Order: sequence, then structure tokens, then C-alpha cells
Amino acid sequence: MNRLTDKVALITGAGNGIGREASLLFASEGARVIVADVDGAAAKETVRLAGANGGQALAATGDVAVEADVARMIEEGVRRFGGLHVLYNNAGVLWKDRDRSVLETDERWWDRVMAINLKSVFWVTKHGIPHLRRAGGGSVIVMGSVSALVGFTRAQDAYTAAKGGLISLTKSLAIQFARDRVRCNIIHPGIVDTPLQAPYLTDALRKEFETGIPLGRIATPREIASVALFLASDDSSYMTGAELTVDGGFTAG
Ligand SMILES: NC(=O)c1ccc[n+]([C@@H]2O[C@H](COP(=O)([O-])OP(=O)(O)OC[C@H]3O[C@@H](n4cnc5c(N)ncnc54)[C@H](O)[C@@H]3O)[C@@H](O)[C@H]2O)c1
Repeated sequence: MNRLTDKVALITGAGNGIGREASLLFASEGARVIVADVDGAAAKETVRLAGANGGQALAATGDVAVEADVARMIEEGVRRFGGLHVLYNNAGVLWKDRDRSVLETDERWWDRVMAINLKSVFWVTKHGIPHLRRAGGGSVIVMGSVSALVGFTRAQDAYTAAKGGLISLTKSLAIQFARDRVRCNIIHPGIVDTPLQAPYLTDALRKEFETGIPLGRIATPREIASVALFLASDDSSYMTGAELTVDGGFTAG
């Protein structure tokens, strides 16, 4: 399994959920992984798990919404691993208690959700793409959501708007950097079984979601990480500016 041999991948939000799963998968495919997370202990645990599996990874602690943190985490990774080829913008927050309808959301939480879920990709690409260009190309992966594709009566308007903005940014980056052989694609997961959803997934809600999903269940983190692996690898060499919906058929219904 060597689909990412000689590649260095930065994965944000890699201390938990889909980001941790992707870190382990990428490392098992030969990548050296910069495990970036605001939760330093969680990042270190991901690195430990990757190492136990024979993989190479480095924990980088910082807030993806803060430019200086992102610049530092990238520099730490490049210094250790000698280059950078994949930017997987995975970090994101879903705060259903504070991020609701526009009628009920405070500006403070709107701005914070926007900073973590949208502005972070500005910082990661601003500081990361020059390294990808220097390497002769690379892959930028953006984490969208089915929330950007359809409306929900239970609104999380800042989350939804941030994910929608990421679709446009993905296409702009894809067009700008195609000649540098830097590809940029976005994944839209449906509901995934991770710590992000855990506080909200009561048995009743899980049942309701599963009834509305044609494949009849919510996704495992691995089922999203494997699509990210495809986008990170040369298997997707002719794809850029694409949206991949990975939702068990939810938005096809
Ligand atoms: N789980 C789902 O149902 C689902 C559905 C659609 C999209 N997504 C998207 O997938 C991505 C990963 O989600 P997940 O479910 O694995 O989440 P998760 O909560 O399980 O893990 C997210 C990780 O991001 C880290 N993080 C949060 N804020 C950060 C910050 N400011 N700086 C650096 N790291 C930060 C957290 O510490 C955590 O380790 C997110 O972008 C999310 O919006 C998830």
C-alpha cells in the first residue's frame, strides 16, 4: 500500500474523527503526516497511533483560524519532512447550541465558526500552496458538507454559509493553480459517526437520519478518509475543481 509514498501531507483537525482516520490511512500509504490540531494531546495520540502502525507523523499544535499558528505548523512540518504535497483542510466545528438560525445566533459565534470553518482554508492555502508549487504540484482537499447543498429546518447558518463559501474557494483555487499542477477538490460528507456529532446524536435522531439516508446508515470516518486518500493520491490526477458528495445517497433523494 504505497499510494502516498514520498508525499508529505498536512491534515488539520487531525486529533479526532475523520482527520485522525485520514492521518492513519495516509501514513499507512507511505505519507509523512503533519497532524495539526488545536488539541495538542489529541494530535499526539494520533501520532502515537500512526507510529504504532509503522507510519511517520508529527504533531503540530495550533488554531487553524490564526494565521501565525498555521504558518508555524506548516514550517514545523516542512522543516521536519523536507517538503509539502497535500493540504487536507479537515478542521471544522459544528456548534448546534450556539450556531443556529440567523434569528438566534450571536455575532461572536457567527464570526468564530466562519474563522474556523472558512478563514482557516485561506491561511492554510496562503502558506501551504507555495510549498506545493515548489514541489512541482500537489493536492488541496477541502471539507465541505451536504449542509452546503441543501437547507435544513434545524438551521446552523454560520456552518452552512462557511461550507458554501468553501465550494467557491475550491473552484477558484483549482483554476488559479492548475498550471502549477496543484489540484483542489471538495468532499461533501453526509452524517459521519465522529466526536463532532456525538453530543447531538440521540438514539431518536440517529434513527431519523438513518431513515432519510438511502444506504440506511450514517458513515464511518474511514468512508470519508478513503475518499480523501483518493484525492490526495495520483489516482485522481485528472480531477480538479470537483465536488465529491459522500452521503449514502442522501442528496440524491
Ligand atoms: N461528522 C460529520 O457528520 C460531518 C459531516 C459533514 C462534514 N464534516 C466535516 O468534516 C470535518 C471533520 O469533522 P469531524 O466530524 O471529524 O470532527 P471532530 O470534531 O470529530 O474532529 C475535528 C477536529 O478538529 C479540531 N479542531 C477544532 N477546531 C480547531 C481549530 N480552531 N484549530 C485546529 N483544530 C481544530 C478538533 O480539536 C478535533 O480534533 C469538519 O470540517 C466537518 O465540518 C463532518
